[in-house]
Amino acid sequence: MTACANYPGGELPTNVHLLAQTPQLRALMTMIRDTNTNRNDFIFYSDRIIRLLVEEGLNYLPLVEQQIETPTGLPYHGVAFQGKICGVPIIRAGEAMEKGLRECCKGVRIGKILIQRNEETAQPELYYSKLPSDIAERYVLLLDPMLATGGSAIKAIEVLLETGVHEDRIVFLNLLAVPDGIDAVLARFPKLRIVTADVDPGLNEKKFIVPGLGDFGDRYFGSS
Ligand code: PRP
Ligand code: URA
Repeated sequence: MTACANYPGGELPTNVHLLAQTPQLRALMTMIRDTNTNRNDFIFYSDRIIRLLVEEGLNYLPLVEQQIETPTGLPYHGVAFQGKICGVPIIRAGEAMEKGLRECCKGVRIGKILIQRNEETAQPELYYSKLPSDIAERYVLLLDPMLATGGSAIKAIEVLLETGVHEDRIVFLNLLAVPDGIDAVLARFPKLRIVTADVDPGLNEKKFIVPGLGDFGDRYFGSS
């Protein structure tokens, strides 16, 4: 279990993995939380955090033993990734995470799910999905930087399960979460894994994460 001061009881559920809170990560999170950070810097520092999330998320994929030969002519008993993967960003903000995944996983298949929170009610609305036809055989890295009420993630996971994806083969990569969102998602999908960079205490009356970082999609893509 991972200690987390903002999660009730002080420890995260076992299938929630918080990135190591290194000085480096804390400085990066401070940059993207700062309302005075301009768009270019927001993109740059978010991308660095996303890269850390992807690298950590890949640690939860299965490995097989593999023996290779090194240039010294000696064998090395190593490992290789087993199984096929697919990245699925929740459009729009999740698309900001696609580049980081592609940089780590050459030629990775990408599916898309378009979900938007209704600005009045904060309820998620599903508009579109397009997934690889063999996604049921793949491990899925679900990408969305913000886990607030959990509504968008729950809807996206429902879409994945309807296409035959196994719940225990989904790793949700997320930049900032709150306890209520984590609990809502895990109550529905207890076998899901979540990898997050930080956990904030809660939501405001507009269902925004506080202290948070504002609207991730607007800041990354330059809309408002
Ligand atoms: C944001 C975010 C998540 C969702 C999180 O997307 O990227 O998808 O809100 O909130 P929830 O946990 O309460 O569902 P939004 O719908 O604002 O659209 P965007 O991706 O276009 O910014
Ligand atoms: N979506 C965001 O972009 N930010 C929040 O705080 C909540 C949902």
